[in-house]
Order: sequence, then C-alpha cells, then structure tokens
Amino acid sequence: MSPGAASPIGLPLDRVDGPHKVSGSATYAAEFQPKDTCRALIVQSRIAAGRIARIDTRAAETMPGVLRVLTHLNVERLPQQGRAAVKPPAGREMSLLQDDAVRYNGEPIAVVVADTLEHAQEAASHIEVAYERGPAALDFEAARGGAYPPRKTVRGPPDTTWGEGASALDSAPVRIAATYTTPYEHHNPMEPHATVARWEGDRLTLWDSTQYVSGVRDTVAKTLGIPTGNVRVISPFVGGGFGCKGSTWSHVMLAAMAAKAVGRPVKLALERPQMFGPVGGRPRTEQRIELGASRDGRLIAVCHDVISHTSSFEDFVEVATSPTRALYAYPNGSVTQRLVKLNLGTPTFMRAPGESTGTFAIECAMDELAERLSIDPLELRLRNHAEREPDTGRPWSSKRLRECYRQASRRFGWERRDAKPRSMHEGPWQVGWGMATATYPAHRQPAQASASLARDGTAVVRCGTQEIGTGTYTVMTQVAADALAIPVDLVRFELGDTRWPRAPISAGSMTVASVAPAVRAACTRLRDALAKQDRRWLDAADDAGRRSAWRALAASQPTATEAHGESHPDASEDEQPFAARSFGAVFAEVRVDPELGIVRVPRVVGAYSVGRVLNAKTAANQLQGGIVWGIGMALMEESLLDPSSGRYVNGNLAEYHVPVNADVGEIDAWMVDEDDTRFNPLGARGIGEIGITGVAAAIANAVWHATGRRIRDLPITLDKLL
Ligand code: MOS
Repeated sequence: MSPGAASPIGLPLDRVDGPHKVSGSATYAAEFQPKDTCRALIVQSRIAAGRIARIDTRAAETMPGVLRVLTHLNVERLPQQGRAAVKPPAGREMSLLQDDAVRYNGEPIAVVVADTLEHAQEAASHIEVAYERGPAALDFEAARGGAYPPRKTVRGPPDTTWGEGASALDSAPVRIAATYTTPYEHHNPMEPHATVARWEGDRLTLWDSTQYVSGVRDTVAKTLGIPTGNVRVISPFVGGGFGCKGSTWSHVMLAAMAAKAVGRPVKLALERPQMFGPVGGRPRTEQRIELGASRDGRLIAVCHDVISHTSSFEDFVEVATSPTRALYAYPNGSVTQRLVKLNLGTPTFMRAPGESTGTFAIECAMDELAERLSIDPLELRLRNHAEREPDTGRPWSSKRLRECYRQASRRFGWERRDAKPRSMHEGPWQVGWGMATATYPAHRQPAQASASLARDGTAVVRCGTQEIGTGTYTVMTQVAADALAIPVDLVRFELGDTRWPRAPISAGSMTVASVAPAVRAACTRLRDALAKQDRRWLDAADDAGRRSAWRALAASQPTATEAHGESHPDASEDEQPFAARSFGAVFAEVRVDPELGIVRVPRVVGAYSVGRVLNAKTAANQLQGGIVWGIGMALMEESLLDPSSGRYVNGNLAEYHVPVNADVGEIDAWMVDEDDTRFNPLGARGIGEIGITGVAAAIANAVWHATGRRIRDLPITLDKLL
C-alpha cells in the first residue's frame, strides 16, 4: 500500500456478503428461476446390485403435469457411455441412464420432468421397476479379505517406506499396536446439491451449487461431447460444500440432459435423503497402527496400514496415512493404503480427507504410547517433534507447531492435569483431558484474475473461484484493496462464473493460497497502469483524500482500464525444495456420566500454525467450524448401513446426528503469528480444513483419561462406554 494507508490485510473485516445472506438477496443455485423452468426429480434404485429387468413408465407419463420420463430405454446416448470426462476431482463416474446396470442402492435410474415438483413426485411413485438381483458386497468386514492396492493416491503410491521400514520395529524396546475404525459419514451441507439447466440453441447455462465452476463446465462439455465454450456455469453462493460439491455428480448432467429433452429450463434439487449415496461421503476406514519407541520416548518406527471402502466402479482412496507420514521425527516408517469394493456410491473428499480420519488413529496411538511409557502426551510429542518432513527429509516452508503446543497448553491449563485416568471429577461427572496434534497439507494451484476500474470509481475484480461459505468474497476484497491502495468499500469482487478468469477448485484448503496472489497480481498491474495516468490517489495523505482522488481518476478515464494477473507455484509439490504443511495443537476436556455413558465436551482449545492470516474473523470461523465438526466426528456422526439392502437407514438430518449449539461448549481457537512467504507471496497457507483434524483423537484421549476406557471405534456413543 501507499505510505500512510493502513493495509486491510489481516483485519477482522465483516463479511462483505453478509448483508446479502441475512437479507435473503444472496441467490443460491436452486433460487435461479429462468423463464418456463420446470422440475426434475431423480428416481433411485431399490436394490444394491443387478440390473433393471423391466421399467414401466406408462402410467407416470400420462399423469398431470408430466413432460417426460427419462430412463435407460429412451435417454440420449452419450459419447463413451458418459465416461468421456472421468478425471477426478472434477469428473467422476456418473450414473447417466446409459445402461440397465444397478451398482448401488439409491443409484439414479430414471428422471421425471414435470411442471411442478409435486407432479414429478406423484408421477415418480407410479413408475414400476422389476429388477434382476445380482450379488451385492455390503459387508466391509467380509470384503476386507479382497482388499487391493489402488493404482495411486493423491499422496503418490499406495505404499511408502522410509529408513528401514517396518523391520525397524523389531529393534524397538517398547511397541504398541492397535486398530482404529471410523464409520461411513455424509457431508450434509445446509444447502443440498442443486442444478438449474437452460439451453439456448447449442449453448448451455448451469446454475449449480459447486466448489468448482470450471470443473463442472469442463466435465459437462466433455461428457455431452460439445465445445467447452458452449457451457457456462454460474455459482455466486454455495451453502457449504466440504468436498461433496467438488466433483460433478450425476444430477448435474441429468439436469442438462432433462432440459435438452423437454426444451425448457429444468431445476433439479436433491432432497436431503438423496445426499446419502449419489454425491459421495466419507469412506469407512480400518486403520492398524504400530509404534516402536525407546524407553525414553524417542520414536523408532511407525507402521500405518489403512483399509477404506470404495464403490464397485471407481476408486476413491481415503489417504489416512498422509498425516502419519508428516507428524513426527521417526527415522523409519511404512504406510500402506488398501481398498475394498462395496456396492455403495463412490465416497469422496470430505473435510480434511485422510487427515481427519488419519489423525484420529495416529494421535490416539501416540496417547496409548504415552500411557505405556508413563510420559506426558504433550511431552512425548515434543520429544519427537519433526524438524523436517520425516519421509522425504525436506525442510518445512515454515512451521510454528512448538509455539502452538506452548500457547494452547498454557491457555488450557494442561500442567494441572493428573496423569492417572479416572482421577478427575466434577460432581457426578468423570472429567478427562486429552490432546492431539492437528495437521493439514498446504496446497496451491495456478489461478488468474482480472481487475478494472469502472467510471463510478468501483474497482471490479473478477476470478472464477467460489464462495463456499469460507469468506472468499471478503478476503479477496481485502487483498484487492491492499494492492490498489483504496478503501475496501471501493472494491467489488465477483466470482462463481466461468466467464471470469480461471481458478482452481475450492477444496484442499487452497483458495486463499492460490487465488489471492492472482488477485494481487491483477490489481498491482491495474494500479501501475492507472498511476501512469494520474497518481494523486497514491500520494494522498488519508483515506478521504485517496477516495476523492480515485473517484476523480475513474471519472476522467476515457475507457475503462483493465488488467489481468496470474499466479502459480514455482514447482509441483513434490519438486519443491521444502515441504508445506499446517499444524496445530488441540486440547479437549470431556465430562462422562459414569452411569449413562453420556459424553459432553465443555471446552476445546486449539492453536494453529497456518501461515499469515488474511482475515482474523473468517479464519477463526473456519477453525471453530472445523472443531465443531470434530466434536460430531468424535461423538455422533455415522451413516448406518443396512447390510441386507445397502441403504443408509438414517439418511436424514433427524437421525444423522451432528452437533447442535447445545452440544458445543466453549471453543477457543486462534492462529499463532506466522508469515510463510516461501510457500506463497502473501505468506498464507490455508485454513479451511485443519480445524477438524486432531479433534476426534483429543476427545477420545480425554474419554480414556476420564474413564480408563480406550474407544478406538468412532463415534464414541454411550453404548460403547457402558
Ligand atoms: Mo475439501 S474435502 O478438500 O472440499
């Protein structure tokens, strides 16, 4: 910024889109209503495996308001049976009615298009389907014998060893081994998936609730076999994504196909029960961990073997070994990832994929080792602090984990903990204190942005990124205002449209790290171009002077000045000379009712090393939200699979439990001072996912401390404590 101007970067600026959200003027996908929009409804299979022997839609087709019923018998044939764009994360194996196969219970098998939703629902209930059942694999335990290594994972090959690998365990004087399990879970953002599709000739517009507008555009265009330029995707607001909206799932394509079939715009909004299956979820995991250490608590080796489930038709790997590879200075290690195929919808990225499930296992195992060695759990972690990335030996771009341990343990009061389990009480409650390390990798991808000055003095900054509730509008407004040296209210940041310059998926906690440098580059170019015309706003002494000089400059422009900027990492993550990761320390207190097994979490304290913070308020919000989810993961969340039908029996928000306000005690979460300019010119690493990591372990460790019971199977429901 210019001398005298205070940078807005880092300030706890209120969300610039907040007034739109609370007043209802923020438009979500299902609220777009092009003229003549009709409704589409997905009909789902009722068996887990086999084929459709007969489907009778005659009655449905004659019902009031019905425009069309699409089935595998009459639907448009797509290039490569609809698999032309399978390129995760954007493109996935979809169910597009191209054949009669049924691969999971709840798979889309037909689409009813009608003038109203009620007419579509009524007609759907009159479709008759006869199935030919095939063998269905629905039992994780039974299927695990057939576990196989995936071709690759997002962290490279499925198996990694370093040092002497597993054989180093043999020489370790102290060893512990345990198996940890996590259940099927489903994301359930407040806003279910929704798509509105409109064709104008051969051009398609999609209003979609997505974390990746350009990913949807590319996937849909390729799947339909039309030019990418013929598809536009618009997504100004997303009511939560958490990973399930990172990929293009079947309903997006089915909306486009239905709109084409009836020649009218079509709205297809998933109902809440349809969120359990066709749009991903967190895979079930079974994780075996073995740790070997010296008697004074130096880790010698780690082994972590993960089995997770996937669908019968696509591999998705929950890389729960990822945090294990990064956390401690063990000289030897071996990690493996295996998959088992089940007749379920393909699971997907769910907030902190791999890291949340993986930290549950490794951070519980560290607590078990601390118990065995009679070493304080925090002290054990400090003794094994990794000064370099353990499996590659690379230095970190920046890491302030020691400071996190120090600040959070002090704020929590950890030194007052009595190490003995069952030693602390509060009235009738057993009290337990547990802790864990949090971690999430730092990612960054290429991004582009544009900036222009409108004649009314508004700086219009555009990027085809997404606002998934994390604060993108707000943070990018701050970055733009800083680079242009103008007050934030003179910036209008626009996103969520494939007409704007391309940005990566809003996932992997990488939006800020990827998009902010591009926004800064575009705005810096615009500033430099404008300064050549008239630099008085840069030299003004105060905000008022800057504002009036800027406005005068805008009004005097013969034509709008526009600039473009882009940014990309210097090398791929594997080729960088440093390893980039965020870390944190999380402490939890639990109270357990010894008679009823009820667990409450009165407080969670967490300190995080995440690089430079661009907005203190939205950043803290992300950490708090992640911690709340961690409480749900620890104590509540589980999709209950009926092993005979392959259906999730609690597929609704009444029975799929997530924390409500009454379940959440005090959450104290903050970021330690840090500036990681090796990773990114703005010094920021990303903050969206780390909050959930470590929390389930901290709570499970606290439950052990309260009760003396190790619960290694999530969620920790009261039946497991009785
Ligand atoms: Mo996040 S699970 O990478 O959207």
